Amino acid sequence: MSDAPNGPLPVARDTGDLRRAVAAWRAAGLRVGLVPTMGALHAGHLSLVTLALARADRVVASLFVNPTQFGPAEDFAAYPRAEAEDAAKLAAVGCHLLYAPDAATMYPAGFATTVTVEGVSRGLCGDHRPGHFEGVATVVTKLLLRVLPDVAVFGEKDYQQLQVIRRLVADLDLPVTVVGGPTVREVDGLALSSRNAYLTAEERTIAPALYRVMTECGDALQQGLAAGPVLEAGIRRLVAAGFAEVEYLALRDAETLAPLDARPADRPARLLAAARVGRTRLIDNLPVPAVAGSG
Ligand code: PAF
Repeated sequence: MSDAPNGPLPVARDTGDLRRAVAAWRAAGLRVGLVPTMGALHAGHLSLVTLALARADRVVASLFVNPTQFGPAEDFAAYPRAEAEDAAKLAAVGCHLLYAPDAATMYPAGFATTVTVEGVSRGLCGDHRPGHFEGVATVVTKLLLRVLPDVAVFGEKDYQQLQVIRRLVADLDLPVTVVGGPTVREVDGLALSSRNAYLTAEERTIAPALYRVMTECGDALQQGLAAGPVLEAGIRRLVAAGFAEVEYLALRDAETLAPLDARPADRPARLLAAARVGRTRLIDNLPVPAVAGSG
Protein backbone atom coordinates (compact mmCIF):
# COMPACT_ATOMS: atom_id res chain seq x y z
CA MET A 1 0.00 0.00 0.00
CA SER A 2 1.10 3.59 -0.54
CA ASP A 3 0.07 6.98 0.81
CA ALA A 4 -2.18 9.14 -1.36
CA PRO A 5 -0.18 11.74 -3.28
CA ASN A 6 -1.99 14.63 -1.56
CA GLY A 7 -2.40 13.32 1.94
CA PRO A 8 -2.01 10.61 4.50
CA LEU A 9 -4.83 8.38 3.19
CA PRO A 10 -3.45 4.89 2.46
CA VAL A 11 -4.27 3.58 -1.03
CA ALA A 12 -4.64 -0.15 -1.79
CA ARG A 13 -4.48 -1.13 -5.46
CA ASP A 14 -3.99 -4.79 -4.81
CA THR A 15 -6.80 -6.94 -3.42
CA GLY A 16 -4.36 -8.74 -1.08
CA ASP A 17 -3.38 -5.39 0.52
CA LEU A 18 -7.05 -4.49 0.89
CA ARG A 19 -7.90 -7.83 2.51
CA ARG A 20 -4.93 -7.64 4.93
CA ALA A 21 -5.97 -4.16 6.09
CA VAL A 22 -9.58 -5.21 6.61
CA ALA A 23 -8.52 -8.46 8.37
CA ALA A 24 -6.37 -6.47 10.81
CA TRP A 25 -9.33 -4.22 11.66
CA ARG A 26 -11.59 -7.24 12.13
CA ALA A 27 -9.01 -8.94 14.37
CA ALA A 28 -9.12 -5.79 16.53
CA GLY A 29 -12.93 -6.12 16.78
CA LEU A 30 -13.65 -3.10 14.57
CA ARG A 31 -16.70 -2.68 12.32
CA VAL A 32 -15.97 -1.95 8.67
CA GLY A 33 -17.90 0.28 6.27
CA LEU A 34 -17.63 0.54 2.48
CA VAL A 35 -18.54 3.45 0.19
CA PRO A 36 -18.23 2.39 -3.47
CA THR A 37 -17.59 5.27 -5.89
CA MET A 38 -16.38 6.01 -9.39
CA GLY A 39 -14.47 9.05 -8.13
CA ALA A 40 -14.84 12.72 -9.17
CA LEU A 41 -16.05 13.10 -5.61
CA HIS A 42 -18.42 15.86 -4.51
CA ALA A 43 -20.22 16.68 -1.25
CA GLY A 44 -22.80 13.95 -1.97
CA HIS A 45 -20.13 11.23 -1.96
CA LEU A 46 -18.49 12.70 1.13
CA SER A 47 -21.84 12.65 2.96
CA LEU A 48 -21.94 8.88 2.30
CA VAL A 49 -18.51 8.51 3.92
CA THR A 50 -19.79 10.48 6.92
CA LEU A 51 -22.81 8.17 7.13
CA ALA A 52 -20.53 5.13 6.98
CA LEU A 53 -18.32 6.59 9.73
CA ALA A 54 -21.41 6.86 11.97
CA ARG A 55 -22.03 3.11 11.54
CA ALA A 56 -18.52 1.66 11.37
CA ASP A 57 -15.13 2.12 13.04
CA ARG A 58 -13.17 1.98 9.79
CA VAL A 59 -14.33 3.10 6.34
CA VAL A 60 -13.02 2.02 2.94
CA ALA A 61 -13.95 4.09 -0.11
CA SER A 62 -13.48 2.36 -3.44
CA LEU A 63 -12.66 4.24 -6.62
CA PHE A 64 -13.14 2.35 -9.86
CA VAL A 65 -14.60 3.77 -13.07
CA ASN A 66 -16.34 0.55 -14.04
CA PRO A 67 -16.25 0.04 -17.82
CA THR A 68 -18.96 -2.63 -17.83
CA GLN A 69 -21.70 -0.25 -16.65
CA PHE A 70 -21.17 2.17 -19.57
CA GLY A 71 -22.81 1.58 -22.96
CA PRO A 72 -20.71 1.81 -26.15
CA ALA A 73 -22.03 5.34 -26.90
CA GLU A 74 -21.70 6.55 -23.29
CA ASP A 75 -19.10 8.66 -21.49
CA PHE A 76 -16.65 6.06 -20.09
CA ALA A 77 -13.61 7.71 -21.71
CA ALA A 78 -14.71 11.24 -20.77
CA TYR A 79 -15.84 10.37 -17.22
CA PRO A 80 -13.95 12.78 -14.90
CA ARG A 81 -10.92 11.22 -13.17
CA ALA A 82 -9.22 13.03 -10.28
CA GLU A 83 -7.73 10.46 -7.92
CA ALA A 84 -5.32 12.76 -6.06
CA GLU A 85 -8.08 15.32 -5.33
CA ASP A 86 -10.47 12.51 -4.37
CA ALA A 87 -7.95 11.02 -1.94
CA ALA A 88 -7.43 14.41 -0.28
CA LYS A 89 -11.21 14.93 0.08
CA LEU A 90 -11.65 11.44 1.56
CA ALA A 91 -8.81 11.99 4.04
CA ALA A 92 -10.35 15.31 5.10
CA VAL A 93 -13.66 13.66 6.09
CA GLY A 94 -11.95 10.83 7.99
CA CYS A 95 -12.01 7.92 5.53
CA HIS A 96 -9.42 5.29 6.47
CA LEU A 97 -8.50 3.57 3.19
CA LEU A 98 -8.93 4.13 -0.54
CA TYR A 99 -9.24 0.96 -2.61
CA ALA A 100 -8.41 1.87 -6.21
CA PRO A 101 -7.88 -1.25 -8.31
CA ASP A 102 -7.12 -1.12 -12.03
CA ALA A 103 -9.30 -2.80 -14.65
CA ALA A 104 -7.08 -5.90 -14.86
CA THR A 105 -7.38 -6.38 -11.09
CA MET A 106 -11.16 -6.10 -11.26
CA TYR A 107 -11.63 -8.12 -14.45
CA PRO A 108 -8.64 -10.46 -14.92
CA ALA A 109 -8.18 -12.27 -18.23
CA GLY A 110 -10.88 -14.91 -18.62
CA PHE A 111 -13.43 -13.09 -16.46
CA ALA A 112 -16.81 -14.51 -17.54
CA THR A 113 -19.41 -13.92 -14.81
CA THR A 114 -22.27 -11.42 -14.79
CA VAL A 115 -24.72 -10.76 -11.96
CA THR A 116 -28.23 -10.05 -13.30
CA VAL A 117 -30.97 -8.79 -11.01
CA GLU A 118 -34.36 -9.26 -12.68
CA GLY A 119 -37.37 -7.11 -11.79
CA VAL A 120 -35.93 -3.89 -10.33
CA SER A 121 -33.28 -3.65 -13.09
CA ARG A 122 -35.97 -3.52 -15.77
CA GLY A 123 -37.62 -0.29 -16.97
CA LEU A 124 -36.51 3.29 -16.20
CA CYS A 125 -32.70 3.49 -16.60
CA GLY A 126 -32.68 -0.24 -17.36
CA ASP A 127 -34.55 0.48 -20.62
CA HIS A 128 -32.40 3.45 -21.60
CA ARG A 129 -29.03 2.01 -20.59
CA PRO A 130 -29.06 -1.66 -21.68
CA GLY A 131 -26.60 -3.72 -19.63
CA HIS A 132 -25.97 -0.90 -17.15
CA PHE A 133 -27.38 -2.63 -14.08
CA GLU A 134 -25.67 -5.92 -14.94
CA GLY A 135 -22.38 -3.98 -14.89
CA VAL A 136 -23.28 -2.29 -11.59
CA ALA A 137 -24.53 -5.51 -9.94
CA THR A 138 -21.43 -7.44 -10.98
CA VAL A 139 -18.89 -4.86 -9.79
CA VAL A 140 -20.77 -4.16 -6.54
CA THR A 141 -20.95 -7.90 -5.79
CA LYS A 142 -17.18 -8.14 -6.34
CA LEU A 143 -16.50 -5.07 -4.15
CA LEU A 144 -18.71 -6.42 -1.35
CA LEU A 145 -16.99 -9.82 -1.51
CA ARG A 146 -13.53 -8.26 -1.57
CA VAL A 147 -14.08 -5.89 1.35
CA LEU A 148 -16.70 -7.94 3.27
CA PRO A 149 -17.93 -4.80 5.07
CA ASP A 150 -20.52 -4.76 7.87
CA VAL A 151 -22.23 -1.83 6.20
CA ALA A 152 -22.16 -0.43 2.65
CA VAL A 153 -23.51 3.03 1.82
CA PHE A 154 -24.93 4.08 -1.57
CA GLY A 155 -26.58 7.35 -2.60
CA GLU A 156 -30.35 7.58 -3.00
CA LYS A 157 -29.63 9.83 -5.98
CA ASP A 158 -29.17 6.58 -7.97
CA TYR A 159 -32.41 5.20 -6.56
CA GLN A 160 -32.92 2.33 -9.03
CA GLN A 161 -29.28 1.28 -8.49
CA LEU A 162 -29.88 1.29 -4.72
CA GLN A 163 -32.91 -1.01 -5.12
CA VAL A 164 -30.93 -3.32 -7.44
CA ILE A 165 -28.18 -3.55 -4.80
CA ARG A 166 -30.66 -4.17 -1.96
CA ARG A 167 -32.22 -6.99 -4.02
CA LEU A 168 -28.90 -8.66 -4.89
CA VAL A 169 -27.66 -8.47 -1.30
CA ALA A 170 -30.89 -10.11 -0.08
CA ASP A 171 -30.96 -12.74 -2.86
CA LEU A 172 -27.27 -13.72 -2.56
CA ASP A 173 -27.35 -13.71 1.29
CA LEU A 174 -24.47 -11.25 1.43
CA PRO A 175 -23.80 -10.46 5.11
CA VAL A 176 -23.86 -6.67 4.78
CA THR A 177 -26.32 -3.94 5.78
CA VAL A 178 -27.07 -1.64 2.84
CA VAL A 179 -27.73 2.00 3.78
CA GLY A 180 -29.11 4.64 1.41
CA GLY A 181 -27.75 8.17 1.84
CA PRO A 182 -30.02 11.18 1.10
CA THR A 183 -29.39 13.13 -2.10
CA VAL A 184 -27.33 16.28 -1.58
CA ARG A 185 -28.48 19.28 -3.65
CA GLU A 186 -27.23 22.64 -4.80
CA VAL A 187 -29.13 25.61 -3.30
CA ASP A 188 -31.32 25.73 -6.44
CA GLY A 189 -32.28 22.07 -6.01
CA LEU A 190 -30.04 20.45 -8.64
CA ALA A 191 -28.89 17.07 -7.30
CA LEU A 192 -25.10 16.85 -7.00
CA SER A 193 -23.64 14.57 -9.67
CA SER A 194 -20.18 14.08 -11.13
CA ARG A 195 -21.84 14.60 -14.53
CA ASN A 196 -22.97 18.16 -13.63
CA ALA A 197 -19.42 19.12 -14.67
CA TYR A 198 -20.50 18.51 -18.29
CA LEU A 199 -23.15 21.28 -18.19
CA THR A 200 -22.48 24.52 -20.05
CA ALA A 201 -23.35 27.77 -18.24
CA GLU A 202 -26.65 27.96 -20.13
CA GLU A 203 -27.52 24.31 -19.46
CA ARG A 204 -26.73 24.83 -15.77
CA THR A 205 -29.52 27.45 -15.62
CA ILE A 206 -31.99 24.95 -17.13
CA ALA A 207 -30.98 21.93 -15.02
CA PRO A 208 -32.70 22.92 -11.70
CA ALA A 209 -36.09 22.73 -13.48
CA LEU A 210 -35.86 18.95 -13.11
CA TYR A 211 -36.13 19.09 -9.32
CA ARG A 212 -38.63 21.98 -9.44
CA VAL A 213 -41.02 20.19 -11.80
CA MET A 214 -40.61 16.89 -9.93
CA THR A 215 -41.47 18.63 -6.66
CA GLU A 216 -44.64 20.08 -8.25
CA CYS A 217 -45.59 16.64 -9.61
CA GLY A 218 -44.85 15.05 -6.23
CA ASP A 219 -47.16 17.54 -4.49
CA ALA A 220 -49.98 16.80 -6.98
CA LEU A 221 -49.50 13.03 -6.59
CA GLN A 222 -49.46 13.42 -2.82
CA GLN A 223 -52.96 14.93 -3.12
CA GLY A 224 -54.08 11.66 -4.74
CA LEU A 225 -54.32 12.87 -8.38
CA ALA A 226 -53.99 10.22 -11.12
CA ALA A 227 -50.37 9.78 -12.18
CA GLY A 228 -50.94 9.82 -15.99
CA PRO A 229 -52.06 13.46 -16.43
CA VAL A 230 -49.73 14.74 -13.67
CA LEU A 231 -46.67 13.15 -15.31
CA GLU A 232 -47.66 14.16 -18.84
CA ALA A 233 -47.98 17.78 -17.68
CA GLY A 234 -44.62 17.45 -15.91
CA ILE A 235 -42.91 16.25 -19.12
CA ARG A 236 -44.39 19.19 -21.02
CA ARG A 237 -43.07 21.61 -18.38
CA LEU A 238 -39.57 20.08 -18.55
CA VAL A 239 -39.48 20.44 -22.33
CA ALA A 240 -40.75 24.03 -22.03
CA ALA A 241 -37.98 24.72 -19.50
CA GLY A 242 -35.35 23.69 -22.07
CA PHE A 243 -34.79 19.94 -21.61
CA ALA A 244 -33.94 18.34 -24.95
CA GLU A 245 -35.48 14.98 -24.04
CA VAL A 246 -37.31 13.45 -21.10
CA GLU A 247 -36.47 9.73 -21.05
CA TYR A 248 -38.94 9.05 -18.28
CA LEU A 249 -40.91 10.69 -15.49
CA ALA A 250 -42.55 7.86 -13.61
CA LEU A 251 -44.33 6.96 -10.38
CA ARG A 252 -43.17 3.61 -8.99
CA ASP A 253 -43.49 1.45 -5.91
CA ALA A 254 -40.60 2.56 -3.69
CA GLU A 255 -39.27 -0.98 -3.17
CA THR A 256 -40.15 -3.06 -6.23
CA LEU A 257 -40.25 -0.13 -8.70
CA ALA A 258 -43.46 -1.58 -10.15
CA PRO A 259 -45.47 1.07 -12.09
CA LEU A 260 -48.26 2.86 -10.19
CA ASP A 261 -51.35 4.73 -11.48
CA ALA A 262 -51.57 6.90 -8.36
CA ARG A 263 -49.89 7.23 -5.00
CA PRO A 264 -50.94 4.20 -2.91
CA ALA A 265 -52.39 4.96 0.52
CA ASP A 266 -50.61 2.13 2.30
CA ARG A 267 -47.03 2.05 1.08
CA PRO A 268 -44.38 4.51 -0.09
CA ALA A 269 -43.95 5.41 -3.74
CA ARG A 270 -41.11 7.09 -5.58
CA LEU A 271 -41.13 9.61 -8.39
CA LEU A 272 -38.18 9.03 -10.73
CA ALA A 273 -36.93 10.94 -13.78
CA ALA A 274 -34.17 10.98 -16.36
CA ALA A 275 -33.86 13.87 -18.80
CA ARG A 276 -31.25 15.33 -21.10
CA VAL A 277 -30.20 18.95 -21.08
CA GLY A 278 -27.96 19.42 -24.09
CA ARG A 279 -26.00 16.16 -24.23
CA THR A 280 -25.94 15.67 -20.46
CA ARG A 281 -28.24 13.07 -18.93
CA LEU A 282 -29.54 14.00 -15.48
CA ILE A 283 -31.44 11.68 -13.14
CA ASP A 284 -33.32 12.50 -9.96
CA ASN A 285 -35.96 11.01 -7.68
CA LEU A 286 -38.22 12.03 -4.79
CA PRO A 287 -40.16 10.14 -2.15
CA VAL A 288 -43.94 10.16 -2.42
CA PRO A 289 -44.85 8.96 1.08
CA ALA A 290 -47.84 6.81 2.01
CA VAL A 291 -50.74 8.56 3.76
CA ALA A 292 -49.62 9.20 7.35
CA GLY A 293 -50.75 6.51 9.76
CA SER A 294 -51.96 4.02 7.13
CA GLY A 295 -48.88 1.83 6.99
O1 PAF B 1 -22.86 4.84 -8.12
C1 PAF B 1 -21.72 4.64 -8.57
O2 PAF B 1 -20.82 5.48 -8.49
C2 PAF B 1 -21.41 3.32 -9.25
O3 PAF B 1 -22.50 2.87 -9.99
C3 PAF B 1 -20.91 2.23 -8.28
C4 PAF B 1 -21.98 1.88 -7.24
C5 PAF B 1 -19.66 2.70 -7.56
C6 PAF B 1 -20.58 0.96 -9.05
O4 PAF B 1 -19.59 1.19 -10.01
